[in-house]
Amino acid sequence: MGTSKKIVVLTGAGISAESGLRTFRDADGLWENEPVRIVATPEGFESDPERVITFYNKLRNSLKNVEPNAAHHALVKLEEKYGDDFLLITQNVDDLHQRAGSKRVIAMHGELLKVRCLGHGEHVMYCTENQPEKCPECGAKMRPHIVWFGEIPFEMKRIQKALTQCDLFAYIGTSGVVYPAAGFRQMAKSSGAYVVCLNLEEVDGGYTDEFIQGKAGEIVPKWVEKLS
Ligand code: APR
Repeated sequence: MGTSKKIVVLTGAGISAESGLRTFRDADGLWENEPVRIVATPEGFESDPERVITFYNKLRNSLKNVEPNAAHHALVKLEEKYGDDFLLITQNVDDLHQRAGSKRVIAMHGELLKVRCLGHGEHVMYCTENQPEKCPECGAKMRPHIVWFGEIPFEMKRIQKALTQCDLFAYIGTSGVVYPAAGFRQMAKSSGAYVVCLNLEEVDGGYTDEFIQGKAGEIVPKWVEKLS
């Protein structure tokens, strides 16, 4: 292992809550109002594409009214300090980490601001408004560039490599119940990393060395301060 500390951070919907975006499983969360099996599975898209496209168009358009919060900005500072020894993995599909300035970020569940076609090229393109009907490149139907339940998240090889090499793994604002992200803390711990959970509510962590409770906008900047 190198001399410098390698840090991997995983974030979930809780880091964006203070920016005004709903989480999934809290009271009044997204999954309370939309059935996951319809709007977050390939089968749901197959059976009711219009409903799925409308759901993601609404989420995408809501990004215009929100800004990154202090927790997003604190993680940019951490990246600036640790450079290539830092990696941010987010389960979130909003663009708040990127807008805050995070560069070394893997959006493992995809991104709201991208759509892709169902043609042979699976062209991926930026989309800030409603999803276009047809792919401008090949005319095929399009879908949100989001990883649905039953699909494989992006960049898993790169993620697994980083988890087995890190000295510190922090998971922030996530209920830690959805795999494969829910298994990251075990992977990091079994590779010798110190594991920290920063969350509003106690997470039945397992493999966690330290739990810092509170709102991300308050506890993340303080945690980063201590590391700097
Ligand atoms: N500060 C810190 N943590 C918060 C805050 C806050 N202001 N508000 C909520 N939380 C915590 C909640 O206590 C909860 O543990 O954030 C967590 C959010 O959990 P979920 O709603 O389950 O979101 P997440 O863990 O990101 O979901 C993972 O599930 O449905 C899929 O693809 C979807 O990426 C998502 C994945």
